[in-house]
Amino acid sequence: MISRRQALTGGACVAAGAAAASLASVGWSRLGARSTPPPTPAPVAPVEPSAFAPLDRLPDPGAPYLKDIASESGRYFGAALRDTLFSDPDFRSLVVRECNMAVCEGAMKFKAIRPNPHVYDFTAADRFLEFTEAHGMAMRGHALVWHGSTWPWFEEQLQGPDKWRVFEDHIRTVAARYRGRIHSWDVVNEPFEAGRYARNGIRRSVFLENLGEDYIRVAFEVAHDADPESLKFLNEFMFSWPQSAPEKVSGALRTLESLLAAGAPVHGFGLQGHLLTQAEVPVDLQRSFLQEVRAMGMKVYVTELDVRDAEAPQDPQTRDRLVADRVRTFLDVVEETGGYEALLTWGLSDRYTWVSEYYPREDGGRARSLPFDEGLGAKPFYNVVRESLTP
Ligand code: XIL
Repeated sequence: MISRRQALTGGACVAAGAAAASLASVGWSRLGARSTPPPTPAPVAPVEPSAFAPLDRLPDPGAPYLKDIASESGRYFGAALRDTLFSDPDFRSLVVRECNMAVCEGAMKFKAIRPNPHVYDFTAADRFLEFTEAHGMAMRGHALVWHGSTWPWFEEQLQGPDKWRVFEDHIRTVAARYRGRIHSWDVVNEPFEAGRYARNGIRRSVFLENLGEDYIRVAFEVAHDADPESLKFLNEFMFSWPQSAPEKVSGALRTLESLLAAGAPVHGFGLQGHLLTQAEVPVDLQRSFLQEVRAMGMKVYVTELDVRDAEAPQDPQTRDRLVADRVRTFLDVVEETGGYEALLTWGLSDRYTWVSEYYPREDGGRARSLPFDEGLGAKPFYNVVRESLTP
């Protein structure tokens, strides 16, 4: 556990009482996890509007930017950010120009913050938070609990006698570190699944297998106790794969009902939008799900919007149209069912997207998954988002 003073002075800190045990060997470096704490980076200077790089194709010169359109109705537009933010000034200008909200693509995940069992390394996360605060953007926290970002040593601990303590410590320490500075936390990310990887619509994760379903409620309680001001979200992709959607929907609704019945501090559902050009969104199911979520009084944010296009034709115009059509259909249903308070894309420009890395095209071309292309010019996806945000 870090002290208040450590929390304020920044950088990495060693977890108390753990110095004796040896470091686990780790093989994953994509999220920037390090076994030795890096030096604290220089503070991030705000980007003045005059420093905007000339971008290839402004959507409509003189038009309001997405953040301005969103804020007219008290809403947010934002994007997931990775380290390239700090090395690419043109991209940074685009982010500052368009976004009034952001989320770290990896820097607040377990793997980044916990390089080994004894260290909480907040260096990377701090840097993003300083950036967003310097530019008046709200910051979402992503994510306190996610099966997709753990280390083997943590999974071992989750099977041992101290399992609840280690589970709660991580949540409490990270949430407390940023107390009062995070707009909304994805407290539990992607807990739902279907088929043989699921039990009653809940993913058979290391958390479910060792702690039982109650891990979800406990995570919300602990996060809220450590940082009462932030909004607390469940975050999940529901409709990317039509075949798994019905079971995930029933798992999610049952979970929300039981959280609310138990008085757990859950405030919203983050509807990830990792869509695919080759799969239709099951819109009737999406509609009825969102109606029920709204009826429970939940906020709805669209949290991780992008479109996988590895199977779409090569021609950029055709691809851009397919991508934009998917986004339009998906957002139309969200709007019909009470709308959203925040819309975030997972990345902002095709220059940097996990889709190119995780789901590469056979023809070697880059994904065209996001509102802005590699040259930072606006695409049809941008127009759909802009229309959707316009009050
Ligand atoms: C992805 C990132 O984009 C990758 O760079 C990372 O290495 C793995 O995670 N759903 C989520 C996100 O909730 O955290 C995932 O992000 C994408 C799917």
